[in-house]
Amino acid sequence: MRMIQVKTYEELSRKTAAIIAAQVIAKPESILGLATGSSPLGTYANLAEAYRNGDLDFSSVTSVNLDEYVGLTGENDQSYRYFMNTNLFSKINIDPKKTFVPNGCADDVTKECEEYDALIQSLGGIDLQLLGIGLDGHIGFNEPDDCFTKETHRVTLDPSTIEANARFFASIDEVPTEAVTMGMQAIMQAKKVLLIANGQNKKEILEKAFYGPITPQVPASILQLHPDLTVIYSEN
Ligand code: GLP
Repeated sequence: MRMIQVKTYEELSRKTAAIIAAQVIAKPESILGLATGSSPLGTYANLAEAYRNGDLDFSSVTSVNLDEYVGLTGENDQSYRYFMNTNLFSKINIDPKKTFVPNGCADDVTKECEEYDALIQSLGGIDLQLLGIGLDGHIGFNEPDDCFTKETHRVTLDPSTIEANARFFASIDEVPTEAVTMGMQAIMQAKKVLLIANGQNKKEILEKAFYGPITPQVPASILQLHPDLTVIYSEN
């Protein structure tokens, strides 16, 4: 594991974007595993800027996102599909048909989960997976549990996650209580994993996840076993 500590969120965002840019330059047909939340916003802005400057070409890239709320359509401005379209996809030249986010409104969510794993397999797995981390140690929406779940699956969100994510909604009652998330297999099979976190409030969970025991009660701790993990943290 490489733990890179930086001073500001801007520096974190520039470094993270530089690592993703290097991946896309070295392998234009990369499969990028992408994340939502506030942490990657600066990274996505930097990637969009590099595209505008003519330094990056996303035309051969495919993206697979980690998760989506159950019950929100892509038109809902709180859905992760909407987040990705707004903050990244509409600002770069990625082919929209090659951007994948789980469908939280599928009639058959179990089938949707199976198909999402089959899709990732058919793409040959993820080259670079970007992750944030929840205050309870969740990655994607893999919440603390008695075991790690391999496959893409439907989850009931922890009350603490609902509370943490309420800041994006008009009220806490509007936060969906369930989500679909990529499981640990696709994440752990990614060739490179890049986890980013900022703020004092993430310090304790980072210590638990990367310097504590590997346990499904702290889902991100499984990443200690990944052969190519980079963590970038900024206290501010
Ligand atoms: C959500 C997402 C996670 C993300 C987490 C942290 O719960 N499902 O993928 O890592 O939020 O978000 P933030 O970056 O806003 O702290």
